Amino acid sequence: MSYENIQVRTEGGKVGIVTLHRPKALNALNDALMDELGQALMAFDADEAIGCIIITGSEKAFAAGADISAMAKYSFQDVYKKNFISRNWETIRQVRKPVIAAVSGFALGGGCELAMMCDFIIAADNAKFGQPEIKIGVIPGAGGTQRLPLAVGKSKAMDMTLTGRMMDAQEAERAGLVSRVVPVDKLADEALGAALVIAGYSQISVMAAKESVNRAFESGLSDGLLFERRLFHSLFATADQKEGMDAFLNKRAPDFKNA
Ligand code: CAA
Repeated sequence: MSYENIQVRTEGGKVGIVTLHRPKALNALNDALMDELGQALMAFDADEAIGCIIITGSEKAFAAGADISAMAKYSFQDVYKKNFISRNWETIRQVRKPVIAAVSGFALGGGCELAMMCDFIIAADNAKFGQPEIKIGVIPGAGGTQRLPLAVGKSKAMDMTLTGRMMDAQEAERAGLVSRVVPVDKLADEALGAALVIAGYSQISVMAAKESVNRAFESGLSDGLLFERRLFHSLFATADQKEGMDAFLNKRAPDFKNA
C-alpha cells in the first residue's frame, strides 16, 4: 500500500510505525491524511505479527492541527452534513493494539487531540502542546475539551482551551499529559524501545490491559472494577498465562504464542 501523506514501516517485525508526512504544512491533518492514517492503523491492527503501533511526526511538528486552509470556507451545513472531524478521525478508537504517540515539536489543535487519542504520549523535550482553536474563532472539535480535562484536570484544561497558550514538554509531564520526556534525538529510540517491550508480551493480555484501562474513562468505579476482574479471570483461559507464570517460577524468559 502506498500513501501520499504518511510513511509506514515496521521495526523488528513487530512494531508498526506511522510517520505523518505533510512537511510543508507542519503535518496539518486534512481528510486525505486522516483517511490514510485510518487505513494504516487498521492494517497494522489486523496484522498478527504487529504487537504495538507508533504514530509520530517530524522534529518540528507532530501535527499543527486540522488543516485550516481546507476548512476555512466550510459552512455549518458542510460540517454538519459530513459530521466533520468524526468520520475518519475516530478510526483510531477501533484499534485494539496499543498506539503510542511519539511527539516532537508542535502538537496543536487536532494534533494535540490525535496525540491524546493514542494510548500514551512520549514527548521530546522540544514538544509543545496546545488547543489554540479559540484564536481562530472555534473550539476543539476532535475531543480536546473532553480528553484534555481527563488528562490534566479542569483548571489547566480551561486555561489551555480559553487562552490558547501552549504547554511545553516539562509542564505536560508534570500535568500528566505525557508519560515520559526525552531529549529530541532520543525520541524515536525511546518510543521504539517501549513499543518493543509491549510487543514482546502476550497480545491477548496487552489488548485486555488496554481495554480495561480505557474502561476507567467510560464507567463508574464498581462497573470498571467488575470489568477488570472478569477480563483478569478470562486470561486464565489462555496458554500465555500458563507460559508466563511457569516461566517466572522456573526463572526463564517466557515464550508467548499469543494464544
Ligand atoms: N493548517 C493548515 N496549514 C498550516 C497549519 C494548519 N493547522 N499549521 C501550519 N500550517 C502551514 C502554514 O500556513 C505555513 O504554510 P505556508 O508556508 O504555505 O505559509 C506552514 O504550515 C508553516 O507554518 P508557519 O509559517 O506558521 O510556521 P511557524 O513556525 O511560524 O509557526 C505554528 C508554527 C505556531 C504551529 C503556526 O503554524 C500555527 O499557529 N499553526 C496553526 C495552529 C492551529 O491553530 N491549530 C488548530 C487548527 S484547528 C483544529 O485543529 C480544529 C480541531 O479541533 C480538530
